[in-house]
Amino acid sequence: MPKPRRHTPTAAIVLAAGKGTRMKTRRAKVLHEVCGRPLAYFPVKRALEVEADPVVVVVGYQAEEVEAALRLHLPDAPLRFVLQKEQLGTAHAVLSARAALRGFDGQILILSGDAPLITAETLRTVIEKRGRSALGFATMLLENPTGYGRVVHAPHGGPALVVEEKDAAPEERTIKEVNAGLYCADAAFLWKTLGRVGAKNAQREFYLTDLVALAAEGPGAIAARVMPLEATGVNDQEELSLAARAMTRHISQALMKAGVTLEDPERFDCDDGVEVGADTVIEPSVRLRGRTRIGSGCRIGQGSILKDMTVADGVVVNPYCVCESSSIERAALVGPFTRLRPGAEVGEGVHLGNFVELKKTRMGKGAKANHLTYLGDATVGAGVNVGCGTVTCNYDGEKKHPTTIGDGAFIGSDAILVAPITIGDGAYVAAGSTLTEDVPPGALALGRSRQVNKEGWAAGRKAAKETAVKEAKAKRADGARPREERPVESRRKSAGNARSPTLA
Ligand code: UD1
Ligand code: CA
Repeated sequence: MPKPRRHTPTAAIVLAAGKGTRMKTRRAKVLHEVCGRPLAYFPVKRALEVEADPVVVVVGYQAEEVEAALRLHLPDAPLRFVLQKEQLGTAHAVLSARAALRGFDGQILILSGDAPLITAETLRTVIEKRGRSALGFATMLLENPTGYGRVVHAPHGGPALVVEEKDAAPEERTIKEVNAGLYCADAAFLWKTLGRVGAKNAQREFYLTDLVALAAEGPGAIAARVMPLEATGVNDQEELSLAARAMTRHISQALMKAGVTLEDPERFDCDDGVEVGADTVIEPSVRLRGRTRIGSGCRIGQGSILKDMTVADGVVVNPYCVCESSSIERAALVGPFTRLRPGAEVGEGVHLGNFVELKKTRMGKGAKANHLTYLGDATVGAGVNVGCGTVTCNYDGEKKHPTTIGDGAFIGSDAILVAPITIGDGAYVAAGSTLTEDVPPGALALGRSRQVNKEGWAAGRKAAKETAVKEAKAKRADGARPREERPVESRRKSAGNARSPTLA
């Protein structure tokens, strides 16, 4: 086989225009997510990894959403989007990318937008196997080939054609070698040959797979066998879940290789792109999402969910914390049941305990808020102790207002801090205070009414209660006697007669 030219320029076309009817959803198939990325992200990313430039994405169903999602996940990539107005088949989809590749003279990779598990290694295999022939395509052996195009070989040669499930004769359906949906074609061959593809088949579609038969008639096609899992497509919800599991397993393996302890990789969810340092232990049922970065020597407790978080070295996140778009600095201790909403900055050595919620709040070095607290739009100085039940009243119904607490201040339990407010360095806030005014540094603020003790009050209350009970009993006994037996006085009373009794 002739060696490929060393620097054959490579472009890629990713097919992502279909609705994905078998998903049974309104949302386009390629927008469904696996490990935090839309399905179509993965083939595009892999094409970029083998230096395909440009990568042309064919969009159609929910075109704008698909383009927006890919641009969001690949902000600086050399992507071009082309619209396939009607989804007339995979060959038609490739043809709609022609104008975007005008003047390109090299090899064109063609990938399916619904095959997220493909690896760059597999793309390289297909590129290498093609060499200088007109067309290379990936095939795989499947125990259950249902739904895939079957690869038919010529008696004494290479692949002769690919026959789709719906067009296959019974004996062809028994073939277990299937088309993986990944191609590498010489650009000139591709454009010349696509024009010859017709739609005389069971689905009245223009099949890209016809390229194989057309190549076999002329320059010949090369089949490159690849590992099944990598090229498996997602066509329905079950396959989506399987792809997500497989992807998560890849991610878990990479983390473990890098020195991360996963107590149970089968009960771990991790988005693509998350980073975790060595010597970090991750307990079961943790979910790491988005652009989360975790340092080394950390412990992430069971059931915690971290999204777009930055966590420094040596941090302990106890079980069941929900943290988003915030940072936790070195050696801080968070949770259980801590909630960090966007914009929390948890300083070095800070302690946050159960049912503590932070939003847009900076906690200075060594500060503590161990129980039942809400801190919003606040700046809390170093070494501050925030007592149980403290609330920053940061919202007046219209605007948010800031709270500033100086270094070393002590906030007693159940303090209500009505923002905007500043508590000076080293100041003390008495427990149960509601504060509406600033507190100078070093002062003690009492924002509650003075306590009053009423001596003997309890005994008096008890006596009054007993008398009331006796009276009520007597009244009830009286009301229960038959009418004739009751004294006239009481009969009059019950009849509403207010006059004083005269008969005795
Ligand atoms: C296709 C192959 C089949 C192969 C299988 C591998 C054809 C005719 N069949 O079948 O041989 O075994 O992939 O997974 O190619 N798309 C468009 N525009 C269209 C039609 C499809 O962009 O007009 C896109 C879809 O969005 C999808 C991809 O092309 O991302 C593949 O289409 P799909 O309908 O899933 O093809 P399969 O039936 O799986
Ligand atoms: Ca498919």
